[in-house]
Amino acid sequence: MTHRRILVVDDPDALAEAALRYIVARAQQALAVRGAFAIALAGGSTPREVYRRLAHAPWRDTLPWAQTLVFWSDERAVPLDSPDSNYRMAREALLDHVPVPPEQIHPMISQDVDLEQAAARYETLLRRLVPGQPPRFDLILLGMGPDGHTASLFPHTPALEATTRLVVATPQAPRPPQVRRLTFTPTLINAAAEVLVLVAGADKAARVREVLQGPPRPQALPAQVIAPEAGDLWWMLDRAAASQLAAIHD
Ligand code: 6PG
Repeated sequence: MTHRRILVVDDPDALAEAALRYIVARAQQALAVRGAFAIALAGGSTPREVYRRLAHAPWRDTLPWAQTLVFWSDERAVPLDSPDSNYRMAREALLDHVPVPPEQIHPMISQDVDLEQAAARYETLLRRLVPGQPPRFDLILLGMGPDGHTASLFPHTPALEATTRLVVATPQAPRPPQVRRLTFTPTLINAAAEVLVLVAGADKAARVREVLQGPPRPQALPAQVIAPEAGDLWWMLDRAAASQLAAIHD
């Protein structure tokens, strides 16, 4: 059963700091339990601020970089050096500044032009490098868009139904950048030990309420499908994003 918890903090600054404390604690726990830390990064502006801080002291020195394996929970079908690439964003904000061994950084898209092939290849890689059946990430980071999408699971799209696959290629995304995507499926996300969803900003407040306190409509609100089966789910929100929530009893 999912253990869902919601943390509300004052502003985006406090949100980034709370996320960092959580990430470091998860990394240390994974290191103690199994000697390695597998994390999946998200795209988006909220995670970006977390990466930027993690790249510098004091946070930079708190992660076991030599034992950390870095993956992505979704990616846009663009070249690795495109400003729209989630890989490039994480590289520039974080990975270029920390001593993580390059061979432990696993972008979703390399030279592949065939996205289906890229999805299958990533799935095989995950099965090899992340223990568990399905692979159980120590931590998956996610954001949520104003339409309720998370990773690249957009409302009313086939990826939401992909029960046997771990990674799928999607049709062109309905939101910018309007390109095809690769995304973790709900099956893979919900196998994780910990999932952290980061949301900031008043423009998401109505959606946050619908997702967390409204009736289940997972096709319309993909973020509702996130429910790790034997793991912890944290929603971390700034006060603006949480402003339409009724009192929280989670
Ligand atoms: C993507 C992202 C996406 C993102 C949300 C929230 O590649 O599009 O992974 O799922 O996390 O859209 O983004 P913001 O934090 O920028 O609002």
